[in-house]
Order: sequence, then structure tokens, then C-alpha cells
Amino acid sequence: MIAVATASQKGGVGKTTLCVNLAYSLAKRGWNTLLVDTDPQGAVGLSLARSTREKRGFYDFITSALDLADVVLPTRLPELSILPAGQYDACMRHGLVAADAPARIRDLLRAAELRGHDCVLMDTAAGLGGLTETVVKACDYVVIPQQAEPLAARSIPHMLETLARFRAEGAPVKVAAILLTMVMGDQEMSLRVARELRQMLPAELMFKQSVPRMASFLEASARGVPVALLKHNPPPEALIFDQIAAELEERTGLQREGETHHAHASLLD
Ligand SMILES: Nc1ncnc2c1ncn2[C@@H]1O[C@H](COP(=O)(O)OP(=O)(O)O)[C@@H](O)[C@H]1O
Ligand SMILES: [Mg+2]
Repeated sequence: MIAVATASQKGGVGKTTLCVNLAYSLAKRGWNTLLVDTDPQGAVGLSLARSTREKRGFYDFITSALDLADVVLPTRLPELSILPAGQYDACMRHGLVAADAPARIRDLLRAAELRGHDCVLMDTAAGLGGLTETVVKACDYVVIPQQAEPLAARSIPHMLETLARFRAEGAPVKVAAILLTMVMGDQEMSLRVARELRQMLPAELMFKQSVPRMASFLEASARGVPVALLKHNPPPEALIFDQIAAELEERTGLQREGETHHAHASLLD
């Protein structure tokens, strides 16, 4: 099992959009995926889950002795489960979020592995402080969405330095890659920034696929669904996240056991 967090210095860069759409693509590709919302402001894909009445979630889990099975919600897709953020305010009121968080996040990942998840995807609040630091440090990989905007070249090095510090402090987390988001295909400025970032950064640090700014992503996130579920038939842009999922598989070594063997067998049959 791999645990992947998303992280960014700023809010509104497309972290949640990435998590919801990527989780859906990974699940569609057969990976048993758990999408975890660690953003107190978050409302990750609640409409994906069958039951939205259940209000407990991530914050309840890390501030109690609940089992993961008590708080995880199934979705219509058997390979996709969701752990919503839960009752952050109540947990905060009782001063509960604190010392136990690192241990409880490790419990969460262990329990997810025992439940048979292949991949845990953790959405986070903006910034790398507070609980997000704990979440990112507990994960194997981090994906960094980066808006194609003029100041990007300045914020990326800072982000990478912070992540390097986490590793120096003993955290296993590696950068899976930076994902260019909200690229405006009809704006010279946006395209230029995207080009310059690809020149500035080593290719292995960036997803080949980027995410264009499109009204359908805005609409899908307003409805709490991946863009693939916006219409009766998935629009072409849903393929973007299948591509990102494929790149992530390669970058993280997420592989089906005996995959090459199967490929071979089917050739012979
Ligand atoms: N590729 C995109 N095209 C258009 N709008 C987008 C795109 N990605 C995100 N958005 C919109 O931008 C806003 C912020 O995105 P979100 O994923 O919530 O960012 P974050 O989680 O980093 O705060 C949301 O309203 C979302 O719908
Ligand atoms: Mg978000």
C-alpha cells in the first residue's frame, strides 16, 4: 500500500480537485483507494458516498479510539472509499487534536492496509504547518499542485526545501511530482509560465500531464463529484486524470502483483 498526500503553500490551487479526480481514476483502474479529507474546511466528494448522514470522519478518528471501519464511507464504486473530515469543531472544542495525532495517523494507515486498500490519498489544508505537516510526514509520497502563474518559480523551491527538511527529520515522504494546474490554454502568460517551469525544473520532478483550467472542473467540484461523473458520459477531460493516475503508478511503483506474468499469460492464451 502507498500513502500519498497532496500539499501546497496556498489554497485554491486545485488540491481537492486533484484528490477527488485522481482517487476516482485510481479506483477505476482497479486500485482499492481510500480518499481521506484532512482539511477542516473540506467537503471531499461527499456526494460520491452512499450515506452522507454519517458525520464522523478523520478528526473524530484521530481524537478517539474509533476503528477505521466505523468512519469510512463506501461509494458506488467498490474500489473507492471516503473518509470525510468529520467534526473538526467539536474535536477542537475539546482540545483533542494534538499530541496523539502522529500515532493516530499511523494507526489510520496501518488499518487501511489491513482493510486491503492499495492507495490512501490524503487531501490537506493549504500550507505545510500544523496537522498538515503531520499528515505529509506520515505519507510515502506527496503530490504538489502548482498553478501556472508568475510567482510559481518562487514558491516551488521553498516547498521543496520544507519537504527536504521533513526527510532530514526522518519522515519517509518523497516528492512524487509537481502537477501544473489551471493552465489557461488561451493565455500567453499562463502558457509561458508553464513552459518556464518545465525548463527550470528537472523533468522527473514534474508530471508530464498538466491540468487545464476548464469550467467543467469548477462545476464538478461544486457538485462534489469527479469530472467523469458530471454528465451521463465522461467528458474528454476525465482522461486527464487517468493519465495522471498512470504516471503516479509509474512514479510510486504502484503495481499489481504478478502483472507482467498476467500480461504474458494473456498473450499465450
Ligand atoms: N482545472 C481547473 N479548472 C477550473 N477550475 C478549477 C480547476 N481546478 C480547480 N478549480 C476550481 O478552483 C477552486 C479551488 O480548487 P480546489 O481544488 O478546491 O483547490 P484547493 O483544494 O487547493 O483549495 C475550486 O472552485 C475549483 O472548482
Ligand atoms: Mg481543498
